[in-house]
Amino acid sequence: METTLVLIKPGGVQRNLIGEITRRIEARNLKVTGLKLINAPRTTVEEHYAEHKERPFFTSVVDYLTSGPIVAIAVQGDNAVKAIRAMMGATNPVDAAPGTVRGDLALTIEDNLTHSSSDPEAAARELALWFPEGTI
Ligand code: CMP
Repeated sequence: METTLVLIKPGGVQRNLIGEITRRIEARNLKVTGLKLINAPRTTVEEHYAEHKERPFFTSVVDYLTSGPIVAIAVQGDNAVKAIRAMMGATNPVDAAPGTVRGDLALTIEDNLTHSSSDPEAAARELALWFPEGTI
């Protein structure tokens, strides 16, 4: 059993996609074990994306994630990390397969609707960052 992190980015919240994305997660029989709508502190987002610090898009992605409310979701289930990554689709929505969240609902890499942990180690780090109080 694994737990992974999903963030619904500001564009997803603004487009009223909280329910649609959460519905897909639950329909897969993955369990929501943490869920909150927050205005993310800039320091938290910078720490979250620390591995991208030297990339040209670092400032713009941090600006974007702090531009409005986001939803942080802890998701538990067998192979949850890989299952969620596959469900969200390729990072760039133009490469994402139909049937995935990005393939169905997103168009640009700057507004790719969600973040999900890349591997179990990243999931543990990111869950500790976004759910310091722990999950259910
Ligand atoms: P995410 O999975 O949240 O991880 C880093 C984010 O940076 C990525 O999704 C994109 O939303 C954003 N981003 C913006 N430009 C790029 C880019 N050229 N390559 C990768 N990620 C990018």
